[in-house]
Amino acid sequence: MRRGLGVAFLCAIVLAVTACGSSGSSSSSGGSSSSGGSSSGSSASVSGAKVLPASALNNPPKGTITYCTGKDTTGAAHYVVSQFNAAYGSQGYHANLVEFPASADQQRAQFIQRQQAKSGSCDVFSSDVIWTAEFSSQKWLYDLTPYVTANASKFIAAPLQTVHYGGKYWGVPQTSDAAFIYYKTGEAVPSTWQQVYTDAKKTGGIVYQGAPYEGLTCDFLELAFAAGGQVLSADGKKSAINSPQNLAALELMVNGIKNGSAPQSVTTYMEPETDQAFSSGKYGYMRNWTYAYAADGTGSLKGKIHAAPLPTFAGAGKASILGGHNSVISVYSKDPGLALKFADFFASPAQQKAQILKFSLAAVIPSVYKDPDVLKAVPYAPQLLQALTQAKARPVSPVYPQISQAIYTNVNNALAGRESPQAALKAADSQINSALSTF
Ligand code: GLC
Repeated sequence: MRRGLGVAFLCAIVLAVTACGSSGSSSSSGGSSSSGGSSSGSSASVSGAKVLPASALNNPPKGTITYCTGKDTTGAAHYVVSQFNAAYGSQGYHANLVEFPASADQQRAQFIQRQQAKSGSCDVFSSDVIWTAEFSSQKWLYDLTPYVTANASKFIAAPLQTVHYGGKYWGVPQTSDAAFIYYKTGEAVPSTWQQVYTDAKKTGGIVYQGAPYEGLTCDFLELAFAAGGQVLSADGKKSAINSPQNLAALELMVNGIKNGSAPQSVTTYMEPETDQAFSSGKYGYMRNWTYAYAADGTGSLKGKIHAAPLPTFAGAGKASILGGHNSVISVYSKDPGLALKFADFFASPAQQKAQILKFSLAAVIPSVYKDPDVLKAVPYAPQLLQALTQAKARPVSPVYPQISQAIYTNVNNALAGRESPQAALKAADSQINSALSTF
């Protein structure tokens, strides 16, 4: 994938990783940090990208664009596509939905495959917040700076920052994300991660995303950042993963499986399997993203599911990881104006309200969080807004996927008992350093 890198791209990487130090490494207790993307490659530069004028969305050529996204387990993607078609179909504008797998890593692989083939088969892609640096550096995305700067004031700062890289905007925020601890009516609301694990043991267990993929990096970093750990050194040049703070976080997770606070099967769970396990009613607690409130609050758990902000790591701090997705437009799209019209529609107040109301997906515009209908349907909406605002970004780097892979592979090895926590962090450390040294 990184064959044939041009000088400009190499330069972008070097600068980006230098810049990424402040996110992956902002110190200690984390909870009050508003680093939800503070280091958006501010000193990196991506030059020569095609720029889409903001006016492109007015009267674009009639036709059908394809919207590619991860598996639509909740129906949220079908909903926005059908709403777009209902609003604009009579004018000759249509959107088509293509679903990729549920795994974030596989969604990325599918998009990369298409972009490497210079295929316009995804006009709009639902791009995870962590991919902006990589995709824009590869020149796979339209530069949407004119549209985004004209609309910047309507967005919440943290999701807006995730489309910013190298001084430009590469996407339109779609939905933001943060994780919560879900629990059934009657369970206590734990105030520390340690208490979560102790209480979980008495109530069937905690389920989370422990499979080797991006989700596990998030699950681990929430504890690690709360414990005061970091991914990279302050200058972004070296790994800082092998630290006592990260070890304390990993040991809590590993011991949780050993002593029965979490089932061994979490080592194979991504989001859908976590939902299924929790919906069975067998487990007291679940760590999952905000969508799970609507998705799991049906069936036997209807009216019985509650969401609590992520707790403190005893003796240290609190941290949330900023998640979410952005509408990015492929440079190979044949109708980028219509693609922008779709991205703009997704970010409209009516669609943003519908996404949180029906699917408990975090809106990217602030007004929605005060809407009485929203507060009724998603009672933790104010805490959700607070979590997004205070969440920490994952390192911003074109080689972030390799950094993350080093984390999730080794953390998964430790959870599955194949490696000690110490050995896992040591291995992750050397793999992160070699990812950083590839340029
Ligand atoms: C959620 C988040 C995303 C994260 C992914 C990991 O979709 O929104 O940012 O990378 O989960 O599985």
